[in-house]
Amino acid sequence: MSLSERDKKVIWHPFTQHHIEPDSIAIVRGEGLYLYDENGKQYIDAIASWWVNLHGHSNAYMAEKVYQQAIGLEQVIFAGFTHEPAIRLAERLLSHLPSNFQKVFYSDNGSTSVEVAIKMALQFFHNQGNQKRRKIIAFEDAYHGDTFGAMSLGAPSSFNAPFQDMLFEVEFIPNPKNEPECLAALAFKLKQSDEYAAIIFEPLIQGAGGMNMYAAETLDKIILMAKNQGLFCISDEIMTGFGRTGKWFAMDYLQQKPDIICLSKGLTGGMMAMGVTVCSDSLFESFLSSDRTKTLFHSHSFTANPIACAAANASMDLMEDENTWSNIASIEKSHEVWKSKMATHPTIKNVRCLGTIVACELETVEKDGYLNPIRGKAYDHFIKKGILLRPLGNTLYILPPYCIKPSELALIYLEIENFASTIN
Ligand SMILES: Cc1ncc(COP(=O)(O)O)c(C=O)c1O
Repeated sequence: MSLSERDKKVIWHPFTQHHIEPDSIAIVRGEGLYLYDENGKQYIDAIASWWVNLHGHSNAYMAEKVYQQAIGLEQVIFAGFTHEPAIRLAERLLSHLPSNFQKVFYSDNGSTSVEVAIKMALQFFHNQGNQKRRKIIAFEDAYHGDTFGAMSLGAPSSFNAPFQDMLFEVEFIPNPKNEPECLAALAFKLKQSDEYAAIIFEPLIQGAGGMNMYAAETLDKIILMAKNQGLFCISDEIMTGFGRTGKWFAMDYLQQKPDIICLSKGLTGGMMAMGVTVCSDSLFESFLSSDRTKTLFHSHSFTANPIACAAANASMDLMEDENTWSNIASIEKSHEVWKSKMATHPTIKNVRCLGTIVACELETVEKDGYLNPIRGKAYDHFIKKGILLRPLGNTLYILPPYCIKPSELALIYLEIENFASTIN
């Protein structure tokens, strides 16, 4: 029996409608940009395996560091204990963040780092005896993860529809790409109520909501308005961190700085699951008390797992290497050239770039969006051609590992054009 057949008997996959989707492809090996299935077929990983992989699969340098850590210290409880890889990683993360970030809280993935950020903001006011500030502002088309808190912060969509009545109250304002509407709605809300604790955003690009890009100036205005009213500004850099946007962090394009930042995905170069939530000393200090009920009661069994920290430190070594940055610059250049080439394409529209990400919509007779039926056809087409792309409805995007070469990007562009020429 093949791995795919064995899988089908025992595994329930994420974001998968098993009734209509094909069997899962069993990957037996990864090397650099490529994945290899059990039949020896090769795939270009054009989406960095759900946006996590930075330095290519099975990176030998990182694997060695992980191995060395595993035979030294594989896991230790992180309450009452600490270890060097976690300390070093926190120091290094802080050295690349603006100086208002001073404390690192570890968790397991992107969603948990968002949960922690929200708990920090809400409990800050609770600890001060302010029971009024309980509301949160988020954006249309936002996505922050799939746990209940993170789902609450996501715009209502088919992802969270079955649970709408159980999600906590979040007020959504228009997508920041529509700046005037967005700012007007924010101003209106902030004037109407002093009950907001925080605002959360995906800086410069909303990922799962359709790779919607918007201007740094808009986000600067949003942050300024929110800060003036005493809200915590939470920046979800889970997708955008670690060079993805062409700078270390998307916030490096901003004049205003957020108060709390959530990181995951590229944090470990995509090798291990881990998240962090980073905040200021003053936020941290607001939890200090002889009253133990003011503690941030949040933990996971594997908080700051040493092997995950070793992977992240190894990824940081590679991120601090200038070769990585010249690869990032080369990807940006290729994307920009393709964008101008596509300006007049009949069925590829809205080509937009941010750092190593390029996105576009396919022009179809159906409505743009996640449920556009072109998605399945496009996915199958690219898989057949040995390219892993996972369209968001009729939105196609490339978000590759940084080791991709211009010739490999050219292959992906060409296949997108080939597919686009078959529609309508
Ligand atoms: C912006 C953003 N926030 C949060 C998450 C959730 O991260 P995770 O899937 O690791 O829980 C994602 C995942 O795609 C994301 O893109």
